[in-house]
Amino acid sequence: MKGQIVMKHTDIKEIFSDSSFIGKSVTVCGWVRTARDSKNVAFIELNDGTTLKHIQLVIDKAAGSDFSEAMHLGTSLRAEGTVVEARNGSVEINVSDITVLGTCPPEYPMQKKRHTLEFLRTMPHLRGRTNTFNAVFRVRSVLASAIHTYFQTHGYVYVNTPLITGSDCEGAGEMFQVTTIGFDKEHKTAEEYYADDFFGKRAGLSVSGQLEGEMAAMAFGKIYTFGPSFRAENSNTPKHLAEFWHVEPEVAFAELPDVIELAEDMLKFVIRTLLDTCPDEMKFFDEHFEKGLIARLEELISHEFGTVTYTEAIKLLKESGENFVYPVEWGCDLQTEHERYISEKVFKKAVFVTDYPKEIKSFYMKQNPDGKTVAAVDLLVPGVGEIIGGSEREADYDKLIATMNERGMNLDLYTDYTDLRKFGSVPHGGFGLGFERLIMYVTGMQNIRDVTLFPRTVGNIR
Ligand code: 4AD
Repeated sequence: MKGQIVMKHTDIKEIFSDSSFIGKSVTVCGWVRTARDSKNVAFIELNDGTTLKHIQLVIDKAAGSDFSEAMHLGTSLRAEGTVVEARNGSVEINVSDITVLGTCPPEYPMQKKRHTLEFLRTMPHLRGRTNTFNAVFRVRSVLASAIHTYFQTHGYVYVNTPLITGSDCEGAGEMFQVTTIGFDKEHKTAEEYYADDFFGKRAGLSVSGQLEGEMAAMAFGKIYTFGPSFRAENSNTPKHLAEFWHVEPEVAFAELPDVIELAEDMLKFVIRTLLDTCPDEMKFFDEHFEKGLIARLEELISHEFGTVTYTEAIKLLKESGENFVYPVEWGCDLQTEHERYISEKVFKKAVFVTDYPKEIKSFYMKQNPDGKTVAAVDLLVPGVGEIIGGSEREADYDKLIATMNERGMNLDLYTDYTDLRKFGSVPHGGFGLGFERLIMYVTGMQNIRDVTLFPRTVGNIR
């Protein structure tokens, strides 16, 4: 009938959280998680994705209707009935009517109670129906909202920077190419080929929104981006994705200590919000993935994060007596094993490492007076390693151009960026937070593929 809402139903989460439903008639929809039959009654545990909890449907067999199709795992159905108190103090539904919406044959792959995460990675389209992924993606959603709330309530403008770009932000050549034509024999040189292509020049998927973010910050003062970034690096590790979500605030009239303060304050806010908003999910992770997780996060947000310079960190690593796979020398890039040693063994908490050698950092970072280091900062956390990378930016036109020339960069591609240092340049800085790495850290999940709905990694896309 026109205008009739045929699928009107109540979220299972609401029924569990509001005792006034007891004695009332409700309609619920969901997928069958378990079903068992006894002499007089049948029981179905139903989940609709709104909560980790399943609601029990109690079916009186004497009523005579045929519900046999509803007894298969994975079947989707709608049930009507009365909410009653269950013996275990929870609530359940005495069913008066049941309609199968979609049948589910025995080859449904989610049969076992606990599949391995590796197996579930082969089923990205179905794994969301497990408790683990229900919890992961609710946490992800709540964290995203908390990040927006933090910046919005602190006066930041949310900007959307382009995903297709003509300049490589990190200058490391790890961009996916965007093209509509294949390179063929018609084109004698790369220049000829790019000139023929869609944009008339070489284009790629952006590795970071920072360069455009700086331009926006030079107009709006405080901005943030929250969107995808792409890295074509051949890193088949538990913490690298080819497509990840990136939170990048950029602040005018700010120096490195301001950037550090912002990162700490923002993280503490989003973790507090998460603990308050998702107690059931966090308890689930604490029980099943990392014992003591909640206590660890409570501890984290009630203390100041550590701070150490890169030079001091190298000294600590050299004196550690540890047998690292990658040798430690001043000037080396910190590997995950080094990052974890610093945060897990030395500081036992989140720690900012600052002032890295200029050679291992990006061209845009502010050059320190020592001539050797730049005003960079990485945040290292136990269990994951680096989750944030940021810096104060080089605001001096001549110094920036000199570095870009030293690195052999094509200045023509960066004129918008370098113009900022000509027209009212100001001290400014920002950072990039890897959203998936934050989710790993707060859930205890060990693999970035398990906090992303459809992970794209080297050699893996569907
Ligand atoms: O340290 P990165 O490369 O810094 C930038 O992109 C700067 N432009 C950020 C800025 O200052 N606005 O990346 C920042 C963070 C890393 O700390 C990490 O958490 C995450 O982005 N990240 C990745 N996450 C998943 N997969 C990858 N391949 C990642 N590469 C970086």
